[in-house]
Amino acid sequence: MISAESAAFFARSWTLYDLITEYNYMFHREIYAKIEDLLKQRKECNRYQMIDLGCGNARFLAPGLLKCPPALYHGVDLSEAALAEARGFLAGLSCEVVLTHGELLDSLQATERKWDVIFTGFAVHHLALQDKARFFQAVGRCLSDNGWLLMVDVMREERQTRKDYLEEYLRFMRDRWILIPADELEAACAHVETYDYPESLSALQEMAKESGLKGSKVISQFGQHYTVLFSRDSLPQTVF
Ligand SMILES: C[S@@+](CC[C@H](N)C(=O)[O-])C[C@H]1O[C@@H](n2cnc3c(N)ncnc32)[C@H](O)[C@@H]1O
Repeated sequence: MISAESAAFFARSWTLYDLITEYNYMFHREIYAKIEDLLKQRKECNRYQMIDLGCGNARFLAPGLLKCPPALYHGVDLSEAALAEARGFLAGLSCEVVLTHGELLDSLQATERKWDVIFTGFAVHHLALQDKARFFQAVGRCLSDNGWLLMVDVMREERQTRKDYLEEYLRFMRDRWILIPADELEAACAHVETYDYPESLSALQEMAKESGLKGSKVISQFGQHYTVLFSRDSLPQTVF
């Protein structure tokens, strides 16, 4: 099973991921600044319910949440180490905060709530293809009528094979992530090579459509790192 083993990597190497994000090698600063804008744009501060699937330590989401807090924030992750840190980063939030140690697809399929914002950052690419389809089906079931699925993730180019994607991404890591100690960089490369199964944007959009999410818009793209907003209805292309 891809996800459980991959999550075991994060449990062991959480500090390595934290280092990678500290140096902004995956564009977290730009991506999460935009997420903050989007949350404000919903004009629902203190009123919306948000689930964060594969929340990690929520370090980059927390500042946006503090500025436009939900009524309920529910973070789900398989790494207890990450969740322990998340408690600290989210400590200033005055809303209800629930952190669940669990598998994201199981949690989504089990939820009985309707969520206004379903957020996921760099986690869905760890799921097998059938589980990604199940993920979208579960989103289709539990997203509120005017809700948003905000997905931050790595994606393949259209018609790019996984092999070609990996070659390009590993080259990017080895060329650009120069401040990561060599042995740790190779551990990160091995993780990507073994556990990353990104899809193309159109493949994800197709799964979303089949689950009743007709609207989708690319919010940002930095190389392979995308942010896509999915909704039930078509989105006006002029906003955002
Ligand atoms: C790359 S980190 C992303 C953390 C944060 N969302 C971000 O954007 O920086 C991926 C996180 O997803 C978690 N994860 C991976 N697969 C998961 C799964 N199937 N269920 C729950 N968490 C998972 C890992 O433990 C890790 O904390």
